[in-house]
Amino acid sequence: MKNFYKKFQIISKFPLWPNYLRWVYEKTLSDAETLGANPIHKRRNFICLLCGVSGEITANEFIKFTLKKNPKSEIIIIDLGKEQIESVRKLVKEKFSHADIEVKQANALDLSFIKDHSVDWIDTDGFFSFFDEVQLLVLFKEWKRILHKNGYITFRELTSRNLVSTMANNARDIISKYYINTKLHLHSLKELEKDFEKLHLKHSHGLSPIPLLDRYCLINK
Ligand SMILES: C[S@@+](CC[C@H](N)C(=O)[O-])C[C@H]1O[C@@H](n2cnc3c(N)ncnc32)[C@H](O)[C@@H]1O
Repeated sequence: MKNFYKKFQIISKFPLWPNYLRWVYEKTLSDAETLGANPIHKRRNFICLLCGVSGEITANEFIKFTLKKNPKSEIIIIDLGKEQIESVRKLVKEKFSHADIEVKQANALDLSFIKDHSVDWIDTDGFFSFFDEVQLLVLFKEWKRILHKNGYITFRELTSRNLVSTMANNARDIISKYYINTKLHLHSLKELEKDFEKLHLKHSHGLSPIPLLDRYCLINK
């Protein structure tokens, strides 16, 4: 995914992008509570993972939100892309050097540097289209391995679940093929739900300010 960092700025530099992130991050608190999990501000020795960061703009909002809710948070941020990680390292050095933040170039399918059952919250956005069906199950297993019991995962995703969302997903794939030179893997809600069931992850589903980019919360019961 050459140049993804620069090309994704068409979205992340859109003036309302930080507002969107703040809205969905706030919703993660009530979504987790609805599923019976203690959200971030009520946890001790809290550790969270931002999985696939895209760059410093998203990292800035995620870190600000997390530290505001729980100033003692330990934050792990990963991405496969070198430019994404370099931009976040620079941000952390300039703005958040006082905080406990690890920024690592890593593949989400191998999080072996994170201990079993150590993470309270995992968040990501528009991430699943980078994984085929088999890899996606590996990703969910890896997340489940690192999650605390009663830990939770939140994400926003465009899933094919009716004619309109399927058409939107196909359009996203065509744009991606020409704009970032990457063929996406499109997933249906049914397929994701099967994975959640296999892994005993209870889930809730709601809307986000971006039409069809729905928000999900999974809890590790
Ligand atoms: C759509 S962006 C994520 C959006 C971001 N969470 C946000 O809110 O701005 C997807 C990111 O996932 C990263 N990525 C793709 N495959 C990955 C993998 N296997 N492991 C880690 N990161 C990956 C890409 O480099 C890209 O930066």
